[in-house]
Amino acid sequence: MKVLVIGSGGREHGIVWKLAQSSQIEQIYCAPGNDGLGMTARVVPIKVEDLEGLLNWAIGHEIDLTIVGPEVPLSLGIVDLFTEAGLKIFGPDRSAAMLEGSKAFAKDLLDKYNIPTASYKIFTDPVEAKKYITEQGVPLVIKADGLAAGKGVLVATELNEALQAVEEMMEQQVFGSAGSRIVVEEFLQGVEMSLLALTDGHTVLPMTPAHDHKTVFDGDQGPNTGGMGVFSPSHLVDEEMVEKIKETILQPTIDALKAEGIIYKGVLYAGLMLTESGPKVLEFNVRFGDPETQAVLPRLENDLIDLCLAVVDERLDEIRLSWNPQKAVTVILASGGYPLAYEKGKEIRGLDSTGQLDTEDVIIFHAGTRFVDGQWLTNGGRVLAVTALGKDFAQAQKLAYQAVERIEFANMHYRQDIGSKAL
Ligand code: AMP
Ligand code: GLY
Repeated sequence: MKVLVIGSGGREHGIVWKLAQSSQIEQIYCAPGNDGLGMTARVVPIKVEDLEGLLNWAIGHEIDLTIVGPEVPLSLGIVDLFTEAGLKIFGPDRSAAMLEGSKAFAKDLLDKYNIPTASYKIFTDPVEAKKYITEQGVPLVIKADGLAAGKGVLVATELNEALQAVEEMMEQQVFGSAGSRIVVEEFLQGVEMSLLALTDGHTVLPMTPAHDHKTVFDGDQGPNTGGMGVFSPSHLVDEEMVEKIKETILQPTIDALKAEGIIYKGVLYAGLMLTESGPKVLEFNVRFGDPETQAVLPRLENDLIDLCLAVVDERLDEIRLSWNPQKAVTVILASGGYPLAYEKGKEIRGLDSTGQLDTEDVIIFHAGTRFVDGQWLTNGGRVLAVTALGKDFAQAQKLAYQAVERIEFANMHYRQDIGSKAL
């Protein structure tokens, strides 16, 4: 089969890496990709927003299956476009992608079908929003309705910052139109986790649990990022809890969408808070997580192509997922400045010409790199994801950080505590 992966980050490298192990693969392409994953896939210089360009290229190259990494092309309707043209594509269509594309849509759906989530109110008028926030008092969570590259959420512990966030989102429009509507939410206390599931719109198959580390500094301090590291499986979420999340959240959400006339196909990513009164939804993403994918796919024993086709063809009930019992720890190496403005073009030392280390049980996923004149250079905020597998978390963590020690670039930074919670 010829498979096209859409996207350019570490997640897409994870998908490409996993696809490459399939005996069904004839050629993997990735648009626009990056030089690191370009060691395995052929990169195609078409941007993820250029839906017509991608469609024409896929038709011209007789692509059998397309897998979409990021949320933006999903929200723009790439799945609708490819499906109408008769091409198989893995991901939710435009209406289903609203679950991530509009937080107000997601909250209203959860509310209508009594699926556990924080209580909330939606505002389109900044004056009313500020009045409500002042009455309620902090802590509160303020969320821009639309896509804001993971930056549209403020957990406010001071009234001032909450009011300021309303001004920035609604009046100054720092996230563009994504902030013209906001959700103000109850602050939930508990342990945060993400659970990703495959679904064909009917059957829901939870994947192995993973813990992301969103903040930039050790001990969950500092501003939020796209994710600084992951370990998988979970030390907290056993099979019984996964089943409970499926029964109370994942399946009801898919059924609710179906009742609204929407068949959700692809990965449903639930960001959850495990509260004293049970798991509650923080947010949904409509795609694989980054860097969750880089920890989860190395533990997946099924052929990814079989799973994607079962989703697209709505026969996921035939599939059983199988996981390697090894533990995975993934550490993100980030550029100086990230998650704010960051540097690019720094020389990366330690990698071989294929972008890897000659270490068994360690995989280097490239998130933002370029290979120029025989030299690896940084080319993004998150640069590399270093994944190690071990018989237990202690071993996986040790292997991951030993590998990290061998890689170096100017102002590189990373969290030193990925995996520690599981020890
Ligand atoms: P989101 O993008 O909606 O997942 O929000 C980003 C982060 O903000 C989450 O990973 C949580 O750490 C935090 N967060 C979001 N909503 C809430 C909430 N209702 N209560 C507490 N923390 C939240
Ligand atoms: N790791 C968080 C995300 O993929 O959104």
